[in-house]
Amino acid sequence: MSSIPNQFTCFRINQKDEKIVSGLEMVSIEDINPGEVTLKTEYSSINYKDALAATGAGKILRKFPLIGGVDVAGEVVESEDPRFSIGDKVIAACSGLSETNDGGYSEYTRISSEAAIQLPDKIDTKTAMAIGTAGFAAGLAVFKMKLNMQTPEMGPIVVTGATGGVGSIAIDMLSTSGFETTAITRKKTHDEYLRSIGTTNILCLEEMEIGERPLEKAQFGGGIDNVGGDLLSWVLRSTVPEGNVASIGLAADFKLPTNVMPFILRGVNLLGVNSTTLPNSFKQEVWEDIANNMLPKKIEDIVTKEVSLKELPEQFQAFLDGSIVGRVLVKV
Ligand SMILES: NC(=O)c1ccc[n+]([C@@H]2O[C@H](COP(=O)([O-])OP(=O)(O)OC[C@H]3O[C@@H](n4cnc5c(N)ncnc54)[C@H](OP(=O)(O)O)[C@@H]3O)[C@@H](O)[C@H]2O)c1
Repeated sequence: MSSIPNQFTCFRINQKDEKIVSGLEMVSIEDINPGEVTLKTEYSSINYKDALAATGAGKILRKFPLIGGVDVAGEVVESEDPRFSIGDKVIAACSGLSETNDGGYSEYTRISSEAAIQLPDKIDTKTAMAIGTAGFAAGLAVFKMKLNMQTPEMGPIVVTGATGGVGSIAIDMLSTSGFETTAITRKKTHDEYLRSIGTTNILCLEEMEIGERPLEKAQFGGGIDNVGGDLLSWVLRSTVPEGNVASIGLAADFKLPTNVMPFILRGVNLLGVNSTTLPNSFKQEVWEDIANNMLPKKIEDIVTKEVSLKELPEQFQAFLDGSIVGRVLVKV
């Protein structure tokens, strides 16, 4: 007999009269999308994309209604796929949740076996969701940089949007992996936080001179960028020969005004990071690398809030106005 109750709580996003409306609803398992693996949800998280989706500030959902939450981790309660057994702990992140499928802001979540990742041995579901899509993107960036021969000896890695979810976890993972980091932030008052999670140098964005020369002084071994625009251009122009710069986000700008000098005179590599487009087997490999080789040491400092489904709406605005620090965990 199924252990799933007739009705359970979720946070659902709908469209009414062209406006996005979201909030708590009671649903039954028949109301949510089909999928081979059903989870009793333990944790989810809030990413910038979740705030865009739930408020309508960005067009994320491709159909309505959908349960929010791009991340989920929980225990398998039903499975039609022999690779997943009842009691297994599973993660789904960056796999269409809250975009084309119902997401993790729900007491029960049904996912396709294509989206399901076995939780690596060394982490629990809470740590997995403290990392979440934001931390996975940071881990993927470090993974790709290491594959492309980035070494600590090449110099500090600059991390932009440093106090955000991706930025904070990137700093911690880089420091765990033996890299020095330089954090770039707009938040002057958060030096103590940034040092506590492992950064060595801090630059305040508003006080920086971002020149316009085709090449600037080569001062960074590489970079992880969450901001885009002129700042990413400056990072590329300030990176040492053969350094790698991973482009993850567009918090300021989707444009990239650059020139070819960093690439052809210094052999700088611009690495694209998209956590959704990877095949599942590659995602599993990156999760294992995160758990075994770059597990954030200061995750308890980086998780600045743990909230319930009921408390979700009040958190979204902080993401939209860029005032959020670290990661927000959702206990379901
Ligand atoms: N490619 C992928 O697979 C992937 C995965 C996850 C996230 N992302 C993207 O990565 C970015 C960061 O995500 P997140 O979850 O870390 O978001 P977040 O927690 O909201 O952090 C973004 C940070 O960027 C900085 N920032 C915000 N607005 C800015 C502006 N106008 N100019 C300069 N800096 C600004 C702020 O840091 P400071 O105040 O410290 O400067 C902010 O905390 C987002 O664009 C997100 O969509 C991409």
